[in-house]
Amino acid sequence: MRGRVLVVYATGNGSTAQIAGAIADVLRTAGLEAEPRLARFVASVAPYDAVVLGSGLYAGHWQRDARRFVRRHRHQLADRPLWLFSSGPLDTTASQGDIPPTPAVLRLVQGLGAREHVTFGGCLRQDASSRGARMLLRSGRPGDFRDFPVIEAWAARVAAQLLAEPEHAQ
Ligand SMILES: Cc1cc2nc3c(=O)[nH]c(=O)nc-3n(C[C@H](O)[C@H](O)[C@H](O)COP(=O)(O)O)c2cc1C
Repeated sequence: MRGRVLVVYATGNGSTAQIAGAIADVLRTAGLEAEPRLARFVASVAPYDAVVLGSGLYAGHWQRDARRFVRRHRHQLADRPLWLFSSGPLDTTASQGDIPPTPAVLRLVQGLGAREHVTFGGCLRQDASSRGARMLLRSGRPGDFRDFPVIEAWAARVAAQLLAEPEHAQ
């Protein structure tokens, strides 16, 4: 199963799914096998050679499914090339420069030996229905701050690194 990449994510309102999809598209275009999967539906990491893992941020934390995924698959994740992303800021800060992982995310991923963590802008739609979303929307913060050219450029760098490794050579 050379070059098979799991792009695994957790989402509360759906916008991280589109980020995962965009990343998987870029990896496939580069010649890797890649599939975006919801964290709660992934039973094993064993079939994959590398993993890209991300989640939407809520009060500084990844979604519960992503946290569970890390705890359940910690050893296999530590054995594979691993890239991490958070999606959250509802402003342009993520497009302006690196935003480090939140302290909670940092604690969660400690020891996994990830190659990199990146923070992408988030998205909150006017029609988001969760209670927290309604509260944020009342304070006036709807918008889509996902920068897909930045996301795709990051995914292209992940692909280039994987393809440069002998075991992933095509
Ligand atoms: C209740 C709530 C809390 C949030 N907390 C954070 C936060 O702590 N940090 C952040 O950067 N973004 C925060 N956000 C923004 C979300 O991370 C953003 O909307 C993201 O795109 C959500 O991803 P999802 O649609 O995949 O769930 C919050 C959004 C909501 C609705």
